[in-house]
This record gives sequence, structure tokens and C-alpha cells, in this order.
Amino acid sequence: MGSPYMQWVKGVYQLPYNLAASGVTSYPLKMLPVKLEELEITGPSYYGYAPLLQSLARHCGVPTEQIFAALGTSHANYVAMAALAEPGDEILIEEPTYELLVSTAQYLQLTVRRFPRRRENDYKIEPGDIERAIGPKTKLIVITNLHNPTSAFADEQTVKRIGEIARSVAARVLVDEVYLDAAFEQTPRSAIHLGKEFVVTSSLTKVYGLSGLRCGWVLAEPELVRKMWHLNDLVTNVPPHPSELLSVIALQHLDEIRSWSRALIAKNQKTLQEMFLVRKDIECFAPGFGTIVFPRLRSGKVEEFNTKLIEKYQTVIAPGKFFGAAEHFRLGIGGKPEMFREGLQRLCKALDESATT
Ligand SMILES: Cc1ncc(COP(=O)(O)O)c(C=O)c1O
Repeated sequence: MGSPYMQWVKGVYQLPYNLAASGVTSYPLKMLPVKLEELEITGPSYYGYAPLLQSLARHCGVPTEQIFAALGTSHANYVAMAALAEPGDEILIEEPTYELLVSTAQYLQLTVRRFPRRRENDYKIEPGDIERAIGPKTKLIVITNLHNPTSAFADEQTVKRIGEIARSVAARVLVDEVYLDAAFEQTPRSAIHLGKEFVVTSSLTKVYGLSGLRCGWVLAEPELVRKMWHLNDLVTNVPPHPSELLSVIALQHLDEIRSWSRALIAKNQKTLQEMFLVRKDIECFAPGFGTIVFPRLRSGKVEEFNTKLIEKYQTVIAPGKFFGAAEHFRLGIGGKPEMFREGLQRLCKALDESATT
């Protein structure tokens, strides 16, 4: 029960050179044009706060009845899975993936089956793998787009094909799109627009540096959304209203926040390219967008290496074992550029040192 990954990551978060985090560093509150008079402690939020639902509807291009407002993507994934499948149902999840998706399914007593995303194929989804793994008991197929941990992008044709496969057994497809906007100019439309079998989760936490607002959502058919609101009554009463008000303001200024985030990631992508991707002791699929990459250590053990990195260099990476690929590690590229450059330098020093010991 619980998430081994979360328990680990929350223990290393305070290290000064955190290359384990997957999102963009915090967007400063002072950069949001907020007046104290605009905030209030409690407000008319029952099954959603209307102004927030309307802002999300505009952002996502769906009617408000298709939105369940969640407290971040993890909450969204939990409520979506609980609404879409029952104990004993089969759920098919990509591998590697974000560990919480698997832990959550297991906690809900779903029977978890996996399909591969292969390194030799740049982690693309091969629909044939899903066709082979799916069965009459499958209720849900789960993918992340962009992919956590590699940032690989699944194009519309592939996602549509997954929808067709799901439809053939009356299953649904849950697409976690929390990193999708980090494709920036190449960001495609959300999978919610591709058919009724799609259920989408996302938030403003990762790409926009707004984790503390916990502004997340599930997009689904209205009848499913109603089910999610009712299920959520068992988890929490109403969301923190100051957060709802700040989320409405953030959504009004999302273009500025996006430009800030995009410039920050572009800078770090350049540093990554120059300092890290040129190394011979790692192998790394790097699409050039996204906030994470998933290098493979050509020799040595990732966990031993990380222990040394933490103790000697106060720097941390996320071990691949949490994603189902123990020779890899996940490297977050959304940190403050000075921290990221220094952390990467330390990581490179530790790699050089490993080569000589
Ligand atoms: C694929 C994926 N989904 C969900 C989450 C959780 O996001 P949030 O902070 O919005 O709850 C993460 C966080 O790393 C993630 O990588």
C-alpha cells in the first residue's frame, strides 16, 4: 500500500541540487498580478467552483460538464481509475511508467497487466503490443503523453488507434497529459477530442511551475464526471478556495507563464545538450522537448551511483527502478538554470569519478 517512489522522493527533495524533480521550478507568486482583496478563505465551491470550471473549460476546449476539478494530477488519476474500474477488473499500463499509476491501480485491487515502450524504438507506443495484451476483462488502458519518464511523444494517429483497440473490448483509455504542454509549439490537441473512450488527466503543476496551487482536472463524459464528483465526496469536502481563486488568475495569465517556462526549459535543454548528452558513458533518448529525460548508465549500478552522488555532491537523480528500468535514471530539466547547471556539473564529476574507480 502506498507509493515507494513518493516515499523516496519526498526524502530527498531538500537536497540543494535536485535533478530528481520532474516539473518546472516554482513560478513566483509575486509575478502573478494578485491583489489580497481578490482572495477569500471560503467560497461557493460544491461540485466545482464555477469560475474555475469555466476557465478550465476554455483552456481544455470542453464544456464544464466534462470537467472534474481535481487537486493535481495524482488526485485526478486516483479518482478517474476508481470511477472507471472495479476490483478484479484488468488494467493495462505502459512500461516504463510513472510509478504512482501502478501503485494506485494495485491499491484499487485492479489486475495490472503491462505493455512495453521499448528503448530501441525511442519509447514509441506500438499499438500491436496493446492488441496482444488486451483481453475481454480489460477495462482501462493507461498511457502518459508526454511519456514519464522519457518525454517521448505519442502522435494523434497512435493515440486514436489505441482508442479503437479499447473500443473493441468496451474499455477506455486514460491519458495522463500532465507533461503534454511541454511540447510547446508542437503541443497537439488533447486526447479528449479523439473519441468517447478517452479520459484525460492533467494539471498546471508540472509545465507551469504551479504545483502548490494543485489545479488539476479529469476530462470525461458528463455521466462519468458526475460519478467522479460523488466518489470524491468520500475523499474530501471542498477544495481550498484561495487556491481556486489563484488558479483562475493563473489561467488568465497562462500565456505569460508559458513563455517564462518555455524560456527556462530551452536554456536547460541547451545545457543538457552541451554538458550531458555528449557523454559516452550514458545513452539517452532526448526528443529536445519536455521536462525530463531517462538516460541509461552504460556501466555500474544506478543506486550505488546515486548514493555517492547524494553523499558527496548533494545532488540527486531519480533511480530507474521506480519506473521499471533499473539501469536508467530520470533527470529533471525544469530546475532553476543556475541550480541545473551546477547539479549537472556535479553529476558529470561523479560520472568521471566512477570511470576511474
Ligand atoms: C505522469 C504523472 N502524473 C501525475 C503526476 C502528479 O502530478 P501532480 O503534481 O499534478 O499531482 C506526476 C508527477 O510527477 C507525473 O509524472
